[in-house]
Amino acid sequence: MKIEEIIQERRTIHRFLNEPVDTELLSEALDLARWAPNHKNTEPWRFAHIGPEVKEQILQLNLGLDPNMGSLKKEKMIHNYRSKHSLLALGCTRSENIKESRENYASVACGVQNISLYLWAKGLGCKWSTGRITEQIELYEWIKWSSAEIEIVGFLWVGKPEIIPPAPKRKGLEQVLINTP
Ligand SMILES: Cc1cc2nc3c(=O)[nH]c(=O)nc-3n(C[C@H](O)[C@H](O)[C@H](O)COP(=O)(O)O)c2cc1C
Repeated sequence: MKIEEIIQERRTIHRFLNEPVDTELLSEALDLARWAPNHKNTEPWRFAHIGPEVKEQILQLNLGLDPNMGSLKKEKMIHNYRSKHSLLALGCTRSENIKESRENYASVACGVQNISLYLWAKGLGCKWSTGRITEQIELYEWIKWSSAEIEIVGFLWVGKPEIIPPAPKRKGLEQVLINTP
């Protein structure tokens, strides 16, 4: 695949096959995140590969967040969390400096894109999610990350796509580019 095909064809995957992710491949992808640009070499990315015990804890916490959750949504959530594909927490090191915090978050995003593109080229899909579950304080205790040092900026689901959704519409380049004199 050409790099432009990988970039354009990569999609956020919402439904995965119930298959484990090759851990070596996942390590390779995470290793590539380390090569993302990062201002002042802060290397702000942190990753936690969530094991089955903590995954179940997160599921139970998530189910409890919405006591009025419909049975279909509940069923889908349980299926997703108990399926064999991978769940990672995405961490970003904190800074007291607002500009550095923004730049750290930007670098984590660059790293996540490295991961997503590499895995896509290898036939695996990802979903970066920032739902309410990713903001729960319990996660820090379970992952053993200090919330004073690291901010969880989302989850990354990784696995073999069951369905590849169509590409969401994008603005044309002319709508986002200005050429100044
Ligand atoms: C920082 C960030 C947070 C996201 N959070 C969610 C989320 O919580 N739920 C979700 O379904 N998709 C989430 N996405 C995926 C976007 O919805 C997705 O990238 C967008 O629809 C464009 O689709 P594409 O990735 O297939 O091009 C997130 C993406 C980013 C970059």
